[in-house]
Amino acid sequence: MDKYDKVVELCRRRGFFWPSSEIYGGVAGFLDFGPMGTMLKRNIERRWRETFIQSHHGLVYEIETPVVMPARVFEASGHVENFTDVIVECLQCHKRFRADHLILEQAGEIQGIEGMSTKELDELISEKGVRCSECRGPLGKVSRFNLLFRTNIGPYSESVAYLRPEAAQGMFVNFKSIFNAMRERLPMGLAQIGKVARNEISPRQGPIRLREFTIMEVEFFFDPKAPGCTLIDEVSDVRLRLLTEDMVKTKTEEPMEVRVAEALKEGYIKTEWLAYFMALSTRFISELGAPTASQMFVAKLPDERAHYSAQTFDQLVRLDRWGWVEVSGHAYRTDYDLSRHIQYSGQDLSAFRKFQTPHPVRVTVAKPKVERISADYGKETGKILSAIKGIDPGALKSRLSSGPVEVDGLIIRSEYVEFLEKEETLSGERFVPHVAEPSFGADRLTYLALECAYTEREDRVVLKLPPSIAPVQVSVFPLVNRDGIWEKAFSIHDLVRRAGMISEFDDSGSIGRRYARADEIGCPFAVTVDYQTMADDTVTVRDRDSWEQTRVPVNGLKEFLWSRLAPLRFIT
Ligand code: GLY
Repeated sequence: MDKYDKVVELCRRRGFFWPSSEIYGGVAGFLDFGPMGTMLKRNIERRWRETFIQSHHGLVYEIETPVVMPARVFEASGHVENFTDVIVECLQCHKRFRADHLILEQAGEIQGIEGMSTKELDELISEKGVRCSECRGPLGKVSRFNLLFRTNIGPYSESVAYLRPEAAQGMFVNFKSIFNAMRERLPMGLAQIGKVARNEISPRQGPIRLREFTIMEVEFFFDPKAPGCTLIDEVSDVRLRLLTEDMVKTKTEEPMEVRVAEALKEGYIKTEWLAYFMALSTRFISELGAPTASQMFVAKLPDERAHYSAQTFDQLVRLDRWGWVEVSGHAYRTDYDLSRHIQYSGQDLSAFRKFQTPHPVRVTVAKPKVERISADYGKETGKILSAIKGIDPGALKSRLSSGPVEVDGLIIRSEYVEFLEKEETLSGERFVPHVAEPSFGADRLTYLALECAYTEREDRVVLKLPPSIAPVQVSVFPLVNRDGIWEKAFSIHDLVRRAGMISEFDDSGSIGRRYARADEIGCPFAVTVDYQTMADDTVTVRDRDSWEQTRVPVNGLKEFLWSRLAPLRFIT
């Protein structure tokens, strides 16, 4: 049994997670979280919120948007066209595989495989003799498979929608409304924690690759002409382990270790906000239990990057069975998404930048020819007028020069508008904000925390979860359930719970078995109430990691526990 199998076995036994819909045979790529797993995952989400939303002095706002979004959103975002993986089918048993993964399994490491074309992969399959891993049959041609889950809204087959593959689009389509509501200030981050779905071809890595999972993302909007990160000093000394694009190209395997300030000065990271979030991520992942020495950021080469990104670093952590696994992605999405939504929705999603001194300029003004529009559109003339008003006149002029422009089914023709040039004094200009995005999968992080915490001592499992994320922080045990001890223990459990700690009351089985269970669910402290408690109002506090027991007065218990639970552990 390797560590992965041991963790998975523990998780089932102690109620962390297991395959979904298991009584019907289970479905690959879906997990059900039990009570312990849900609490652990929620604590990881809470720490993520504290790290990426609440510690930024009001710069990042959390929002919540639906999982189902109309097709148009993902046509605009580029996912309908580009969100694909490579697929290959066995010609004998007709099982389908993710082509690049199958090749890697049978041919070993191949640099640059992520960015290869279907033709290059066909050549690799034939050159390396790759066959079906189930029946050894020959493989067909490699093609592309779109990972979006498709559905319909209401009983209308033409009303196509998709389950979101990232929470990001909910933040892009709402950017302008929120920007307006929050007093039009940049930089501004939007954050979301929520479910996403990706129809993975053949996920076989348990919690590491899921078809439905919880994503935690920030879309951080900033003015590209004022790209400085106001909080960079807080992280400039954080050390990042980096494989830059050049290092990846030259097949360097050992990352360099650089301070954030140096990584920016040398131009390894293109924007300060991206570097800032990478530093926070280093700390965050370390707090979950993965030492910085087992982390690294690897730059994606241009043909490996998502379609929206000008620079991406994957943050990888080394896991026992799976090797280096991505735990977060850091993408410089530039103005790609907002610009595409401007183009597809016809809405103005820009921000305003004030000049230091006003500029005299020539501007284009669009003057609708109402009579001409009315001749074509009659009662709907108003709609055309609003559509014309909603588009920047310069942009409309240039789009009309290559033909009619469609907005929500309405056609604007060049003969509907007269364009005039005017001298104006401009106090500023409109621009499309740029975006830096850190993105995490909460389920994968839950597994990561479990694997990092998994230890064995004297043939027993001790899950050394950091106290800040442990599903239960304090277990309270009555030694026996009589002579007033049960009631005293329950009142202590209540005291601990009211003090804000996650406390569990356990009154069944021998004390030894209760300690063992507390160790297995990663509970840092067990408090035992015994006959001595009734005499001198003290309890035994047992430490999960050292197994040491300390006698503590009940009236000092809260402070004793809090002082040991609160410190965060950054492991280097
Ligand atoms: N939003 C990041 C991703 O889709 O991976």
